Amino acid sequence: MATLLNTEDFQKVAQKSMGHAEYVYYSSAAEDEFTVAENQATFKNWRFRPRILVDVSNVDTSTTILGFPTAYPLFLSASALSGLAHPEAELALARATKAVGVPQMVPTVSSRTHEEIASARPEGHIQFFQLYVNRDHEVTKSLVKKVEALGYQAIFLTVDTPFLGRRESDLRNTFGSGNGVIRSLGTLSDPSLTWDFVDWLMSITTLPIVLKGVQRGDDSQTAARHGVAGILVSNHGGRQLDGARASLDVLEEVIDSLGPQTKMEVYLDGGIRRGSDIVKALALGARAVGVTRPVIYGLAGYGEEGAKAVLSLLHEETKLCMALCGAPDVGRITRDLIVRKPTGNPTG
Ligand SMILES: Cc1cc2nc3c(=O)[nH]c(=O)nc-3n(C[C@H](O)[C@H](O)[C@H](O)COP(=O)(O)O)c2cc1C
Repeated sequence: MATLLNTEDFQKVAQKSMGHAEYVYYSSAAEDEFTVAENQATFKNWRFRPRILVDVSNVDTSTTILGFPTAYPLFLSASALSGLAHPEAELALARATKAVGVPQMVPTVSSRTHEEIASARPEGHIQFFQLYVNRDHEVTKSLVKKVEALGYQAIFLTVDTPFLGRRESDLRNTFGSGNGVIRSLGTLSDPSLTWDFVDWLMSITTLPIVLKGVQRGDDSQTAARHGVAGILVSNHGGRQLDGARASLDVLEEVIDSLGPQTKMEVYLDGGIRRGSDIVKALALGARAVGVTRPVIYGLAGYGEEGAKAVLSLLHEETKLCMALCGAPDVGRITRDLIVRKPTGNPTG
């Protein structure tokens, strides 16, 4: 892995080592794939204002997510069916995330059972559960009770999937048996969900609830009024509504709407490919970021070691970026650290 210097290098390896249909399943997004492209591109609209002559001989990247310690401000965001990337699937991801000290979000649509993933949980590891809501809420209730009993520590309720987005690149592939599984994802979500469901969910579990897929400031205010523990600004990696704004652009609106006094934690996922992207998201007010595809590419290429290598790379990049910015701890990653790129710069 010596020549793999950034997350894009890992993606190239994954593209070669995975079957075509599997690679397309992970890399593709909805319709014209505008949103997935902009998720990444928008980070380039911001530039750093590094502080000079700050002692950065020790950079502390640690923080907390929902009160749980993390080695740096990142968690693995959900990906259905990681078994298409590697047979060890969520078990390898559990070991890799634990090795670098970040939480893992386990999907409803996992390749290994939720019991198996929980029992493979390394001592002290933080696992969150991503929830798709079955149309039969009694089924959802027993799932929530089960994952609570299995020791998952928070529920990320996906709220951007009343129906599955149309992923045309996927539809062009004859995905063999996998295709049936992906189609069945469509029946897993309840298109009738409203804010009442959020209240109901909070009434049946003591676990903290995070809404995954918030894309407007007013919705973030409503989320705060309902008392959820956090929101994840996300467009599902561009796989749902194509033409939705890039996550980083939404983050500004959300942070402005909530104001500085909010107790609710705000996270972002979508397009994080560099440690500097993490620092920019934190400067704009995120507490932490989620990452999915880069870790899956690492997993596809090299199994657990590859997933770990990608996560370590992002950690090292974050640390170096913080040092070069004069931010020796995450508390020093403040809004003044970045500025919008001046317009009209022809060099892009
Ligand atoms: C292959 C794949 C499967 C995904 N499966 C789920 C899922 O089951 N539930 C969910 O809430 N989000 C799912 N997502 C969305 C991610 O959790 C996350 O929001 C997004 O991918 C982050 O963007 P990134 O891939 O650029 O890091 C999936 C994303 C990918 C790429």
